[in-house]
Parts: sequence; structure tokens; C-alpha cells
Amino acid sequence: MIISGSVKETREQVKEWKRKGLRVGFVPTMGYLHEGHQSLMEAAKKENDRVVASIFVNPIQFGPNEDFASYPRDFEKDAALCESVGVDLVFHPKADEMYKEGFCTYVDMDGLTKELCGKSRPTHFRGVQTVVSKLFHIIPADRAYFGQKDAQQLAVIKKMARDLSMDIEIVGCPIIREADGLAKSSRNTYLNAEERQAALALSRGLAEGRKLVEAGEREAAKVKRAIEVEIEKEKLAKVDYVEVVDFADIMPLADLSAAKEGEVLCAVAVYIGKTRLIDNFIWKAGQ
Ligand code: PAJ
Repeated sequence: MIISGSVKETREQVKEWKRKGLRVGFVPTMGYLHEGHQSLMEAAKKENDRVVASIFVNPIQFGPNEDFASYPRDFEKDAALCESVGVDLVFHPKADEMYKEGFCTYVDMDGLTKELCGKSRPTHFRGVQTVVSKLFHIIPADRAYFGQKDAQQLAVIKKMARDLSMDIEIVGCPIIREADGLAKSSRNTYLNAEERQAALALSRGLAEGRKLVEAGEREAAKVKRAIEVEIEKEKLAKVDYVEVVDFADIMPLADLSAAKEGEVLCAVAVYIGKTRLIDNFIWKAGQ
């Protein structure tokens, strides 16, 4: 497995694979890898001849009062996981390799980024789109893999790739959970034992919502309320948002049957103590 911190070296290696006609899959991450990340790498491994993973805690997607400095990092362990999955190249740049002095070009989007996490994290998606665009230029892969765990991010990246005619297929992968239902996340390490228990409020709330939808409820307000009520039973939980949106354009829906492509995203962000966690489910019309 190649480990490189260099833009030039990484690009040349990927180009060489492409010249040989090999298909390249790419998994962008911020490291502190867990089974969620691993599932993306395994999917990439299955569908491509070479797999590149990036590990880079991207400073520009964190707001001024967010957890950039304290975001967990363990490169040795991450590299071992990548190697065990059969990743061929890990791109692990320093911040100044990605953002040279005077950097001032950003990728942004109207719509999609304004709802859900965009409300409490107004510059977050601009940072994500910018770094992912840069990574796609450095690593000209055939396919890139993103988790549904960050469903809005997945929708934004798909839209960005389409709008900017990027020559890459965006593949969405299912949410990997702990045995008790908590969605795996690098940020779960912030939780103490009591908070870890309280964090189950997210998946429990979403399960209530899903039950209602599966029983035939189509009124978004009722589904949202059911999710909220369940989450608010947990004293340590403070809801940031509970939303029902069209997965195609991340616009709020009043009626679940009205989703343009038939996919409805029910998403939550909840503070458990100081830690902000997100989770969701996607309901497909006809299910
Ligand atoms: P990070 O949070 O490290 O996540 C990297 C990828 O792993 C994302 O596509 C995310 O959706 C996926 N992922 C995380 N937890 C998951 C889970 N439990 N199940 C399935 N997939 C999961 O997302 C980012 O990094 C950054 O914003 C990035 C795209 C790398 C840009 O900096």
C-alpha cells in the first residue's frame, strides 16, 4: 500500500493506473476510521481494480466554534485498517499541501445546502464541496463512495458532480450501525458512558417515524412530531432539527407522496451533551 502526502505523486500514480485501463475507486474520509468507512472501502474494492482512500481533516468545513482541533486522529490505526481492506493508496496530505497560502477559491451551491445541517453549519457544505472537488482533481477516479450516514452531503456531492459535469460516478452506501442501533461515527468517541446510552434516542426516534410511514402516514408534520416526541423523552438530548425532505433536492416536504424521484429523507441532528450527532432513514415510495 502506498502512503502519500503529495498531490503530485498521488495524481501521477492514479493517472498511471488509468493509462493501463484500470478502474479506480475513491473513498474520501477524515480518518479515525470505523466499520462505516470500511464498508465504503469494501464496496470500492469490489467494483474497481484499484482503491484510493484519502484521510484529511479538512479545516475549511468546520465552523469557528466547531471541533476541528479536537477531531479524533489516529493515522497509524487508520493506515492498518486501509491495508487490511486492500486499499492501494492512502492520500494523507498536510493542510498546507491542500491549502497553499492565499487560497481563495471555493465551490458553493444554491439550494440543497441551505436546509438541515446547512442551517446550523452555514459554511460547512462550501468546505466539503471545495475539498471534494480538489480531491476529485487530484484523484481522477471512476467512482467515489459516500455514506448515506451523511445523506445531505451525499445529495450535495451528487448534485455538484452533475452540475459541474464531473467525470465521476457517485456511489451511495448504506448506514453501518452499532449492534444497539447507534449509527457509527468518529464523533461517538466524544460520548461518555451515560451519553452513549442517551445517543440511542436518535435511532429510536427514527424507528418511530419509520413505523408510522410504513403504516401509511404521509403527512410530514405527523412523522416529524412522532420522531421529536420519542427523542425528547431522553433528558440529555437536545434536538437541533428533525426534518422530512425530498432526497432529490433537500427541500422540506409536507406530503411524503410528493417526492420528485420518490425518495424521502427523514433526518435528525441532536445534541447529546456537547456532541452533535446526525442520523436518518430514506423511505422509497412504494415500500
Ligand atoms: P467522514 O466523516 O470521515 O466520513 C467519510 C465517509 O464515510 C462519508 O461518506 C460518510 O458518509 C461515511 N460514513 C461515516 N459513517 C458512516 C456509517 N456509519 N455508515 C456508512 N458510511 C459512513 O464525510 C466526511 O468525512 C467529510 O465530509 C469528507 C467527505 C471526507 C470531506 O472532507
